[in-house]
Amino acid sequence: MKLCIVVGTRPDIIKLSPVIRYVSENNIDFFVIHTGQHYSYNMDKLFFEELGLPQPKYNLGIGSKNHGEMTGVMLIGIEKILLEENPDMVLVLGDTNSTLAGVLAATKLHIKVAHLESGLRSYDKKMPEEINRIVADHLSDYLFAPTSISYGNLIGEGLSREKIMISGNTIVDALIKNLEISNDKSKILEQLSLKPKDYFLLTIHRPENVDDKDLLQTIFESLELVYNEHKIRFLFPVHPRTKKNIEKFNLKIPYFVKMIDPLGYLDFIQLQNHARLVFTDSGGIQEESCILKVPCVILRDHTERVEALEVGSSILAGLNKEKILEATSKMLTINNSWENPFGDGNSSMKIIKYLINKVNN
Ligand code: UD1
Ligand code: UDP
Repeated sequence: MKLCIVVGTRPDIIKLSPVIRYVSENNIDFFVIHTGQHYSYNMDKLFFEELGLPQPKYNLGIGSKNHGEMTGVMLIGIEKILLEENPDMVLVLGDTNSTLAGVLAATKLHIKVAHLESGLRSYDKKMPEEINRIVADHLSDYLFAPTSISYGNLIGEGLSREKIMISGNTIVDALIKNLEISNDKSKILEQLSLKPKDYFLLTIHRPENVDDKDLLQTIFESLELVYNEHKIRFLFPVHPRTKKNIEKFNLKIPYFVKMIDPLGYLDFIQLQNHARLVFTDSGGIQEESCILKVPCVILRDHTERVEALEVGSSILAGLNKEKILEATSKMLTINNSWENPFGDGNSSMKIIKYLINKVNN
């Protein structure tokens, strides 16, 4: 089997790192196309270095653009490479514009597509990710649903059972492996003079939260209520989209929120593991906080990671000040004895073995 793996953003690189490692260690013929959707050193190359990944064979260097143009330019670039390389299968993950472009380019060329992290639904088409997921799921040939909930979503949309495997999410593989390394190597708590369980970790980057001045301002005002009540400070590694908007809107960051640049994976998971609570609108971080048994306040009205809500590791707080304060107080007192619903850490191996079997039979 000749496999093409498409990556483009920070979470794709992290979640596909165990898959790339597995195919590489098992002498499977593969190559990686990086669309270059993320390109800043600490959103891109840093992860290849830390996670010990080979350089992608192709980097399209697309950079930042509006949705249509970004997807269109990616489509042109990926199609050209697929025509030259003629792989048996294209593998994509998740819901980014890079995912969408990979799926569209491959299906139009009648190349089989495997979609990892399939079947997640927020039921909010204002999110660009929801549109990308739906298209990716309906065009792909092999759907890897992380859980029975995502499996049920796919069945509910009329997709054939035969196409779907419940595989767990490769984030568990990545997190388990890298947490050990992080425990050995990362000195981030000392570097930032933080004590375990004595800080809140905050990330926000969803356009629906950070592209609107008033909403972004509301988030900081909500955090003020939380700080006044609990006197725990926030550490805030800032996504470049959010940083750009904070500067554009000229927002004043409260003194109890420490803004820092985006971190590498080893430092970030160390900080996540020792946080008192996580406040986020990130998808991957909702999963990781659940796996790490650190309670999470979701700064959104809905989530496609409902498994974490069900086991009680996270709570939806929206962008409502009182709800955020209430959610914080609740999550500070919960018992973290839930079971991780996202997989056993062997998803990458299961997925690749399944695909090899399909191609050979
Ligand atoms: C993208 C994904 C989102 C995912 C997120 C992970 C889509 C539609 N969105 O959102 O699903 O959760 O990645 O982080 O695919 N920028 C930089 N350097 C970079 C990358 C981005 O400065 O390396 C800045 C640029 O100003 C850019 C902005 O961030 O305009 C947004 O980047 P973009 O890739 O369009 O979307 P994300 O918000 O990163
Ligand atoms: N992450 C990181 N450094 C940071 C912030 C996040 O390594 O400063 C990791 C985090 O552990 C998770 C992934 O990036 O694995 C989540 O990416 P992001 O929040 O950008 O995207 P989403 O998951 O929402 O698509």
